[in-house]
Amino acid sequence: MKLTMIGTGYVGLVTGTCFANSGNQVTCVDIDEAKIEGLRQGKIPIYEPGLSEMVLRNAEAHRLHFTTDLATAVAAADMVYLAVGTPPSADGSADLTALRNVVTQIAPHLRENAMVVIKSTVPVGTNAETYARLKELTGRECRVASNPEFLKEGAAIDDFTKPDRVVVGVRTERDAKMLHELYAPFLRTDHPFLSMSPESAELTKYVANALLSTKISFINEMANICERMGGDINDVRRGIGHDQRIGFAFLFPGCGYGGSCFPKDVRALASIARDQGINPQIMDAVDAVNQAQKHVLIGKIESYFGDQLKDKHIAIWGLAFKPRTDDIREAPALVMIDRLLEIGAKVTVHDPEAANNVRQKYGDALQYADNPLDALQGADALAINTEWSEYRNPDFDEMKSLMNTPVVFDGRNLFDSDTMAEHGFTYFSIGRVPVNN
Ligand SMILES: NC(=O)c1ccc[n+]([C@@H]2O[C@H](COP(=O)([O-])OP(=O)(O)OC[C@H]3O[C@@H](n4cnc5c(N)ncnc54)[C@H](O)[C@@H]3O)[C@@H](O)[C@H]2O)c1
Repeated sequence: MKLTMIGTGYVGLVTGTCFANSGNQVTCVDIDEAKIEGLRQGKIPIYEPGLSEMVLRNAEAHRLHFTTDLATAVAAADMVYLAVGTPPSADGSADLTALRNVVTQIAPHLRENAMVVIKSTVPVGTNAETYARLKELTGRECRVASNPEFLKEGAAIDDFTKPDRVVVGVRTERDAKMLHELYAPFLRTDHPFLSMSPESAELTKYVANALLSTKISFINEMANICERMGGDINDVRRGIGHDQRIGFAFLFPGCGYGGSCFPKDVRALASIARDQGINPQIMDAVDAVNQAQKHVLIGKIESYFGDQLKDKHIAIWGLAFKPRTDDIREAPALVMIDRLLEIGAKVTVHDPEAANNVRQKYGDALQYADNPLDALQGADALAINTEWSEYRNPDFDEMKSLMNTPVVFDGRNLFDSDTMAEHGFTYFSIGRVPVNN
């Protein structure tokens, strides 16, 4: 099949590349000329494990192309995928400006039988709106499907090529069949292809992210209670997780969720509910708990150092909102950095992939270390915001010898409290009793 992907960001680039890898002819379009030029030269704009090799291989095989020429790319396509961003507006609702612009731009160039597929996360009714708008602009009934994406940054290729399920929202059996054919190479292990109405497909994406975010905020609130009561959230997790009705997935306490999806999708779903006169009590609470959780670790640092914090040197490990990505959108680390700079502390940061994105935001206000141990040189404390695997087994004695004072604030519960005590650290984590040395 000939596919055109409009929007070559995280989702567009991964989706386009994986479809090219299964034998389709894919053209990725973007308005960002520098990004497209870079991709043509083999420069991948994001860090995503395995993506670079796959892009290069498929580009070399002439199955994957990059262009800013939307008209030509759309005119050649059997399917036009829309994967532009849908960022939050000031009131929390999804901003559909980019998507609506693209719909207007593609209309004159769409082939008679081409299918438009909405991959972006969009509010319920966007498919119907797009269908009506294309009819108005082209004077004919166009095929418009929804195909929400569930990939996780950091494991995007795996998630896309081995999906737990594929969800499509369609009006006709014919459209469902065409999408099923496209996805068949990824569904050989009997994972379901779920065909439903466009409205249900649009909602499925929001409901999935709403539930996952709820689990995170839930365990974070439980962790805060646990810590205050002298319990250990890790033990409590084990205590509940073995209950088959509960399980362990997505119940890790931490310093809050970030990224380009959970925060905005929770707020967008709340906004959809409010528009319908429904009070989204759970979504509002999930968002509020998360906002507060991003201040928990910096709160501990402020309590520990008090007025002295402005003269202290804090090392930060982990800037990305989660490991295996360079994405810092809504990352908890940014809340900590903003506050430390406001107080006047000296801050040295390390992240294996996201440091450049942070440097673009903060420039010389921070110091940047090339490796985790370098960041600790002369530090009065270490704060951990992202659970990169390379942080999990450090040489504690060396850490201690480098630091001015051996104090660790661990927002991801990477270390065992007893081990930290044995090595002489003062250790604060989430939902566990602090270790004072
Ligand atoms: N990032 C994720 O993990 C993820 C997962 C599932 C779903 N989604 C959803 O997928 C959508 C895209 O997210 P993303 O993270 O890939 O966004 P992104 O910001 O990384 O990429 C969007 C791209 O669209 C381009 N663009 C904007 N207007 C354009 C236009 N008129 N023509 C061509 N290109 C244009 C931008 O230049 C950018 O490269 C969003 O709705 C998001 O909620 C994202």
